[in-house]
Amino acid sequence: MATWSAPGKVFLFGEHAVVYGKPGIAMAIKPRVQVTVRHSRYFQKPNSPYIAECFKLTDVKGSVYVKSQLPSASGLGSSAAVTVATLFAINDEFELGYSREEVANLAFDVEKLTQGGRASATDTYVSTFGGMVFIRGNEKRRLIPPQNFSIVIGNSLIAHNTGEMVGRVADLLQHSPIVANGIIEAIGGVTMEAMHNLENPKELGVLMNRNHALLDAIGVGHPALSHLVLAARAAGAYGAKLSGAGGGGCIWALCSKGTRNRVISAIEDCEARPITTSIDTEGARREKDE
Ligand code: MEV
Repeated sequence: MATWSAPGKVFLFGEHAVVYGKPGIAMAIKPRVQVTVRHSRYFQKPNSPYIAECFKLTDVKGSVYVKSQLPSASGLGSSAAVTVATLFAINDEFELGYSREEVANLAFDVEKLTQGGRASATDTYVSTFGGMVFIRGNEKRRLIPPQNFSIVIGNSLIAHNTGEMVGRVADLLQHSPIVANGIIEAIGGVTMEAMHNLENPKELGVLMNRNHALLDAIGVGHPALSHLVLAARAAGAYGAKLSGAGGGGCIWALCSKGTRNRVISAIEDCEARPITTSIDTEGARREKDE
């Protein structure tokens, strides 16, 4: 038996555009998913398409037990964390000998297969290695997290499907290529500006708001997310934007110490769930077997 856990993530800048080779910035967060894999001759096809794909890709048979602190279908990377933790546990239990990098690559393959062939390596890379990461195509860079990077997450409690949202952007690209390409290009530009302003919360907040507007324009917004970002900004956040695939799920707000509690109350007033957390720097790790 082998038990591994992997962290969730917040997509700070560049989601969706990152699928088309533009830059993205994401950060691993403390809540984790824990997966236990046990060698077994009796293999029951797992309910999760992500877990099923992990077993198919590695060509082994076993039983799985999942314990999660992350809400699923909420944009906090629970499917990537499940995939990464499952692959590490399979690697361990069946002594496959994959390196951390190879497991991250396999996890990316699993995400791509389950998202209709369209995905970036962001979620799986961040969940494997932890920390704050810049990604552009094959380029992956660990960033030094800014000082006093105080974030509050707001979960709209509206479930979304990442593959569906990624498909929505692909449809727009097909039917309105000039508009869609323009927005994707602009999201890439905002992300690069964010890279140069990570230590400047005021400017970063403005860029978050701009990134959110562009995600709305590309069709992955939701009235509940608009409501949440406006409420967080009105409560004094430097900025707020959706995180991840959109269409539901979470927003994140950048706050000063003084405004943090007001932003939390504003999120509660929207009948959403505030989540206060911080960066995870470990990535996937082995846990004691239970
Ligand atoms: C999902 O967390 C982020 C997306 O950009 C998809 C991906 O990068 O694979 C929407």
